[in-house]
Amino acid sequence: MKFLKLDEIDSTNNYMKKNIDKFSSYDIVSAKNQTSGRGRRGNTWVSSKGMALFSFLLKPDKKLDINEYTKLPLIAGIATLSAMKKIEENDYKYKWTNDIYLEEKKLSGILVEKVENDFVIGIGINVNNQIPEEIKDIAVSLKNKHDIDKVILTVVETFADYYNKFSSGEWLDILDEINKYNFLKNKKIKVNVGSEVYNGEALDINKDGRLAVKINNEIKYFNAGEIRIEKGFI
Ligand code: BTN
Repeated sequence: MKFLKLDEIDSTNNYMKKNIDKFSSYDIVSAKNQTSGRGRRGNTWVSSKGMALFSFLLKPDKKLDINEYTKLPLIAGIATLSAMKKIEENDYKYKWTNDIYLEEKKLSGILVEKVENDFVIGIGINVNNQIPEEIKDIAVSLKNKHDIDKVILTVVETFADYYNKFSSGEWLDILDEINKYNFLKNKKIKVNVGSEVYNGEALDINKDGRLAVKINNEIKYFNAGEIRIEKGFI
């Protein structure tokens, strides 16, 4: 396992994607800071020193089909949550599809990008950074100071354990664990699907990794591409 530690880069995901041929499965690139950190749906991930900012590569032994690789963000999410419990015991929640929350605020975000048959998994975690006053009601960092390299290695090793379980057919056990920490469960959410907006109540995540939402007494299932949960609503 290679662990490349950079001081500053635009984005560790960009770096790994550009140099993908130089990396093997579970090789890691970290940076103390990113100048153009990226989040999901084209959002910016504002990076600062003290965060764990890293990407690692997953090169599956065989080509994953869409039903398998759409579960990777969920697996990365529960692996990150489980790794955080090893680092500092707190009441973490898993926010579908792949954020980690603590005290109703975001602790970590994950961006999984497909490059041919491989996957670059980028993770940002608020570890030692101070949360700026303007976002104190939506973001949180860990209570104590931690060794960032150790946090990163723990997350990647824990992901490898979960991915091995997934590969040996234990998805439903992983899903049970995911649902145990489901942050959205029973919360009122606003769902945007294309130009339609629905108000509903989030339920469990189903075996396809989709979120069940009760809308007007009917249960609809959404995948990550279809749903947008409005900020400030939950
Ligand atoms: C999200 O919450 O939308 C996902 C955020 C992912 C941020 C991490 S930080 C390390 C890696 N490099 C990036 O540019 N993004 C990911």
